[in-house]
Amino acid sequence: MTDNPYPHLFSPIELAGRRLRNRVCLPATVTNYARLNQITERWKHFLIERARGGAAMLVTEVIAVDPNAIAQPAIVTGFDDANMADLADTAKRVHAEGAWLIGQLWHPGKQQLWGPTRSPMGVSDQPDALSWTVPHVMSADEISAVAQAYIDTAARLAECGFAGVELHGAHGYLIQQFMSPWSNWRDDRYGGSMEKRLTFTREIAAGIRERCGDGFILGIKMAGTEGVEGGIEPDEAGRITAILAGDRIFDYFSYGQGNFSPSLEMHVPDMYFRPGHFIDIHKAMREAADGVPVMALGRIGEPDLAEMVVAEGYGDLVGMTRAQITDAAFALKATEGRAEEIRPCVFDNFSWGEVYQGKPVAEYHNPHLGEEGEADWKPAPADKPGRIVVVGAGVGGLEAAWIAAARGHAVTVFGANDEVGGGLRLEAQLPGRGDVAKVFDHQRRMAERHGVVFRLGETATAADIRALSPDSVVLATGAEPRWPETLKVEPGDEARVISARSAVAHELPAHAGRSLAVLFDQDHGPFTYGVADKLAEMFERVVLITPRPNIAQRVNHCSAVGVYRRLYAAGVEILPAMEPVSLTAGRLICRNVYAGHDRVFEAVDLLVYATPRSARDVLSAELDGLQVHRVGDCQSPRDLLAAIHGGHAIGNLV
Ligand SMILES: Cc1cc2nc3c(=O)[nH]c(=O)nc-3n(C[C@H](O)[C@H](O)[C@H](O)COP(=O)(O)O)c2cc1C
Repeated sequence: MTDNPYPHLFSPIELAGRRLRNRVCLPATVTNYARLNQITERWKHFLIERARGGAAMLVTEVIAVDPNAIAQPAIVTGFDDANMADLADTAKRVHAEGAWLIGQLWHPGKQQLWGPTRSPMGVSDQPDALSWTVPHVMSADEISAVAQAYIDTAARLAECGFAGVELHGAHGYLIQQFMSPWSNWRDDRYGGSMEKRLTFTREIAAGIRERCGDGFILGIKMAGTEGVEGGIEPDEAGRITAILAGDRIFDYFSYGQGNFSPSLEMHVPDMYFRPGHFIDIHKAMREAADGVPVMALGRIGEPDLAEMVVAEGYGDLVGMTRAQITDAAFALKATEGRAEEIRPCVFDNFSWGEVYQGKPVAEYHNPHLGEEGEADWKPAPADKPGRIVVVGAGVGGLEAAWIAAARGHAVTVFGANDEVGGGLRLEAQLPGRGDVAKVFDHQRRMAERHGVVFRLGETATAADIRALSPDSVVLATGAEPRWPETLKVEPGDEARVISARSAVAHELPAHAGRSLAVLFDQDHGPFTYGVADKLAEMFERVVLITPRPNIAQRVNHCSAVGVYRRLYAAGVEILPAMEPVSLTAGRLICRNVYAGHDRVFEAVDLLVYATPRSARDVLSAELDGLQVHRVGDCQSPRDLLAAIHGGHAIGNLV
């Protein structure tokens, strides 16, 4: 018997004769840490830290196999000499930490995630589902040349000391474009029957095996379901898996879902998907794989679930991207019985959204992402431990409090509500958004562990604060929604107008009917669409108006698919380019912000507004002579990243 709390997850396994110390893998993760297609130190640290954090096998982010695959300046090239030294250095350092490094070989084909590639190449003349670009259709010679580019890049990575490569055959990129009957309309040796649609993949695989030898791990990530009619569905994926398994060339199979149609939402399943949403598919693939190890992945964020995946035969390996973006030491903490210390991942795809916008990957619940030393970062002891008062028990205040306490300060937190969490606690009450509570639950656990004193249900006055003789005061008192600037309301109609926050925090006005609610959206963030979902459950008709030409501009592109899907499915009417002008006896007039014409809604029961917020900073004027810091919304209302990273920085500063 082992005393490891997760014995199956932390049992070794062999791939291509190489021993993996456990089953925890990091699936490929674009970081955008490269600059001008050149690897940076931060790019390396992202991987090295996850090796130090205990994972057994790491797959690099996409590596371009061909100049036409360079989609943007942070994509690393693998087809030339530019990155050879840095790739070799990364492999050496990851291996020194006890994990294996696998390079993900990538060609997007016709797909234009970040805008035009140099020369979009297509299997057929089907437009790219995201950009509607119609690609150049590859000739047989061009296909052979690209297949060769994959093989050559694999050989280069082998030369750099990589333990293996993974073909990116998922998410609608080139290899999947060949595999799928949805996108492959050819009738030559590369298309037609399923066997022929696999020709491209099998030629690449055979070539890599021949060039790189048997001890070189060769994996493939492909679709378990593509999520479109006429595309790869689980049965077809099972048949593909069986054929590839029969070749005895691949050492593992991994599955990523969706393509670039609205099934994009499945690439990175967010909190609205079930935990381990796709594991039944993985189990079926495992049966088809005839003993070739299968990596289960997708919304697996907790060691218990990862353990169950291995113990109950859903997968031989467990891929966890976002869980390890949030905490580099996920595996180490789990295996050492410190699972409670893992910074929990809430699967709202913030990190993916950053990368999609071309920014370096960031995660609000991990202020040290990509830094050297991230895996074992601990708050440094304070030079002079003192007394710290934090006013506000939202995520900014809590972060400052637990970090300061971990550094040795005596910390008191005042919270106006009986519970911690502030605005995020409201968000956690909305349909489908409960997981965000994991953030403040974790912060509270850490705060209690480090002896923070909570005074909840107390609205702190300046006298309360001074009575504690603090060395520093951290104000994290949040923000107030502003009245909609363009709206005039007749006396008597005021009770029909409430902020989105009040709509969640308090009962709706008693007199309000349940026929028509209008939601004015000047926020565009996930909270507001959670409110829309809630209103749709309560009202016969919901109209969402926004001054912008579309909605969800602060929701990552992937999760925005879900926002639209839920709103349209619930019958919410989305009216862009509108702002509210007047409300008189339930008659709401809205105006088109571009053309100026009006749209009238009669018998409006409730107008809910999600507007810009103003900092709620009532105390600092009364705290003369004290060292005062403001955190998050109380400084200037922004997002969770600003609140948590801001609190973290102040906790380290005081
Ligand atoms: C920021 C980010 C970047 C990603 N980059 C890649 C990539 O380069 N290649 C790839 O195959 N998948 C990529 N993915 C998808 C992940 O590998 C994985 O399939 C997906 O996130 C689901 O796993 P998870 O639930 O453990 O996060 C990325 C995901 C995220 C969040």
